Parts: sequence; C-alpha cells; structure tokens
Amino acid sequence: MLLFIAGGTGFVGGHLMPELARRGIGGRCLLRSMKKAPLCAGFETVPGSLDDIPAGSMDGVDMVVHLVGIMSEEGASTFESVHVKGTTNLVNEALKAGVKRFFYQSSLGASLQSASMYQKSKARAEEAVTESGMHYTIFRPSLILGRGDGFTKQIVAMINSSPVVAVPGTGMAKFQPLTASDWVRCFLAMLEDGRFLDRLCEIGGPEQFSFNELIMLYMKAMGSGKSVIHVPAGLVKAGLSVLKLARAAGYKRFPRVGRDQLTLLETDNITDTDSIKKQFGFEPESIRGALKEFLPAE
Ligand SMILES: NC(=O)c1ccc[n+]([C@@H]2O[C@H](COP(=O)([O-])OP(=O)(O)OC[C@H]3O[C@@H](n4cnc5c(N)ncnc54)[C@H](OP(=O)(O)O)[C@@H]3O)[C@@H](O)[C@H]2O)c1
Repeated sequence: MLLFIAGGTGFVGGHLMPELARRGIGGRCLLRSMKKAPLCAGFETVPGSLDDIPAGSMDGVDMVVHLVGIMSEEGASTFESVHVKGTTNLVNEALKAGVKRFFYQSSLGASLQSASMYQKSKARAEEAVTESGMHYTIFRPSLILGRGDGFTKQIVAMINSSPVVAVPGTGMAKFQPLTASDWVRCFLAMLEDGRFLDRLCEIGGPEQFSFNELIMLYMKAMGSGKSVIHVPAGLVKAGLSVLKLARAAGYKRFPRVGRDQLTLLETDNITDTDSIKKQFGFEPESIRGALKEFLPAE
C-alpha cells in the first residue's frame, strides 16, 4: 500500500512514521521544510505545503493520510486556511490523481455548531472529505498524549511559569486522553481492515478527567506542590495579549495560548470510555502511569 502523508512531521506523525517504516509501509511525505526529512525516514519526500502540492506527487497513491492541523492561528495560518482550504486542496489533488481512499485526522467535538473556531473548521474539513466521493476514514480523537505532545508542553509551562498554578475558568470540563501509541494501534488497525471504510470514529482513552484532575496528575508527575487558583476565563482572555507580548519579548516559559483554546478548555471533550475496545478490539492504556514519561526534558 502506497501512502501520501501530510503532517507526518508533527507530534502524531512522529509516533506514526517509525511504526509504518518498521512494517515496511511506505510512500511519500509532503514536507514544508526539507530539514525535517529525517522524520520521514523510509518515505520519499515531496517538498510543498497544503497550498502548493506538486503536480503528479500523488500518482499511484492508494491512500492520502491527512494529519495537518493547527491549535491556534498565527499570521496567514488560520483555521480557515489550514483546515478548510488546506483540506479542500488535498482532496482536490487526490481526486485528480485518482486516489481512492482518504484518511482525515479530525478532532473529538468537531461540529459546525461549536463555539470553537477550531472545531467548526474541523467539521468543515470533514465535509470536504466525506463529500469527495473517495472512501474515507475520519478519526475524531480526544487529547493525544505522548513524548513531545503540545498539550503536555503547555501544561508544564503553565505550572512552571508562576508561583501559583493559575487555571483558566472552573477547570470542570472533561477530557478523555489516549496515548499516542494507542492512537497508532488504532491507525494500523484501520489501515488493514475494510470495516473502517466510510466511517467516522470517535476515539478516547479509558478514563475521563476534568481539567482540574489533569492538572493534579501533571503536578504529581512533576513533583510540584504549588497551590492552584482559578482565574475567570474572561479575565484570562483579556490578558492573552500580555502573554503574547511576554513571549515575543523572550519570556518563553509563559505558555503559548490562543483565545480559541480557552473555549476548548471550557467544553467537555469525551466519548464512550470503551470506544477503542469496541471499534479497534484492544484495551487502551491509562495515561495515569505513563504521564511522567511524557514530560519534556528540563
Ligand atoms: N495532539 C492532539 O492531542 C490531537 C487531538 C485531536 C486531534 N488532533 C489533530 O491531529 C493532527 C496532528 O496533530 P499534532 O498534535 O501532531 O500536531 P502538530 O504536532 O502541531 O503537527 C502539525 C503538523 O501539521 C503540519 N502543518 C501545519 N500547518 C501546515 C500547513 N499549512 N501546510 C502543511 N503542513 C502543515 C506541520 O508541519 P511542520 O512540521 O512543517 O510544521 C506538522 O507536520 C492535527 O490535525 C490535530 O488537529 C491532535
């Protein structure tokens, strides 16, 4: 099977690519920067981006794997340009090349009605895929945690950045994290099983945690005994420009947070706790014990 992978250089791709190479599954990787080519070992590299997919680069491809996504907007990289327009471009190129199957990594909670622009744009990207006429599989995962994940980096920065841990809002919204290695197992099962054609799979780990509980788990893993306070989400939103200025001035210990991410922190992001067992046939691991391994090196 020949794959065309976009977004293979990110956190999820970083866990997937070596597993594909180990299994002798190859193809081509779309790369914005050739410096990242070593991350796609075992794959041919295609210089380009979602706005600039070289003609012919999908010829002979069996399946497009679309992992590109952004959590916050920056400059020209908006949810509209990356998720909606980028996915449409990828779909159109795949159709031109006669590709028959398309995998899209969406997000649990993707909805046209969502208050989050991230989730709205993911839902519109899903539409571009489901209406393409190609066979599709869409994953809608909850938080994916593992070595190098962006969520852990942000939480660790939040815990380290001040003498007390300031949690935006009530911290009551629930999440259902799964490990990156379990996500990879789901992906590999999907590749090999025709039952996943034209399906949308909600995926979550075996336990649900409120954001407050997740913070406590991280603090425990970090050995931090700091006090936790809650800051009204509206106040945090108002202070975002100050955070941005602080980061721009070189204070990188402050977390990079976007307005839309605060909306996501206030919304439950959960599905059935047996979603993986039911759809993929294995017991997912709990993140409780594994969290310490995911902390960034000092
Ligand atoms: N991580 C999670 O907890 C989680 C949960 C649910 C859904 N998801 C979804 O899973 C996907 C992968 O997430 P991730 O955590 O691996 O993200 P990530 O680490 O931020 O990686 C994003 C990937 O997208 C690429 N990219 C970004 N903008 C691009 C553009 N304009 N054109 C081409 N490539 C572009 C990046 O390329 P460069 O290396 O060149 O920057 C990178 O390969 C995303 O769609 C995300 O929304 C993630």
